[in-house]
Amino acid sequence: MLRFIEASNAVRKELNEVENILKNIDEDLIKGASKEVFEYFFKNSGKYLRPMLILLSAKAIKPDMTIEQRVHLINLCVAVELIHSASLIHDDIIDNDLFRRGQKTLNGVYGRKIAVLAGDALFAKAFNILASMTTRDGEQVMTQVVEKMCVAEIEQAQYSEGSRKEYLRIIEGKTAVFMSACCKLGALVANAGREEVVALEKYGLNLGMVYQITDDCLDGDLNAIRNNITIDNAKEFVVKAELDVEGIESSIYKEGLTNLLYYVIESYDSKVKKA
Ligand code: IPE
Ligand code: MG
Repeated sequence: MLRFIEASNAVRKELNEVENILKNIDEDLIKGASKEVFEYFFKNSGKYLRPMLILLSAKAIKPDMTIEQRVHLINLCVAVELIHSASLIHDDIIDNDLFRRGQKTLNGVYGRKIAVLAGDALFAKAFNILASMTTRDGEQVMTQVVEKMCVAEIEQAQYSEGSRKEYLRIIEGKTAVFMSACCKLGALVANAGREEVVALEKYGLNLGMVYQITDDCLDGDLNAIRNNITIDNAKEFVVKAELDVEGIESSIYKEGLTNLLYYVIESYDSKVKKA
């Protein structure tokens, strides 16, 4: 956990701003009975891992942002967290899950109909923010991410005896592509060179693989078990991710990115010990 705290503290000010905007997002959405629904959802936030990836990637390239770059980054963070939130809301409906982040899910409290619509509203809000930006990058990258996530979820639902290769392709599509996109977008705001953008994109992809494999190992995911996937496979992706960012200059931000890799692995060790 210490590694996670260190990584988030490196971008604490920006994360607080993002959190503040999200906690008041219901004010931004069309008023009405929905206010309560969004307030309820955002009362209990997640870890803001994806905003952290945007901010750490940007600052690893350029620690001092202009005011415009900073505003751009905060807006990207808000949009990305809204997309993540919408996907979690829909995921809980699909899986019939009644609890997340220690509270009842929207489908659990308000029913599936309202939860579907709330997820849709958050997707729309996110893309409205991205479409209002000065560059098309956010919109182009995030529409592709959502498309890939949905296709991967469909494949997962269809798949019964899939191979290891298929398993890896699915988790790449549903989790890793999103994290990779966050790193890419952060790097682009910081005007990173082509090689740096690719390096951070690859890092994000490999972090996403670490993250989902670890999650699946903890959850006893059947597709992972069937393919003999273990935490050692997650560790292989940690090594790759570290190599990806090797060429990026040392800073607390780059350290934040590597800390996140070890935080995921350590969270596995501590949860397995507790169990
Ligand atoms: C959960 O993501 C969905 C997966 C990719 C497994 P997070 O674990 O980042 O969710 P929150 O936002 O912190 O709750
Ligand atoms: Mg689920």
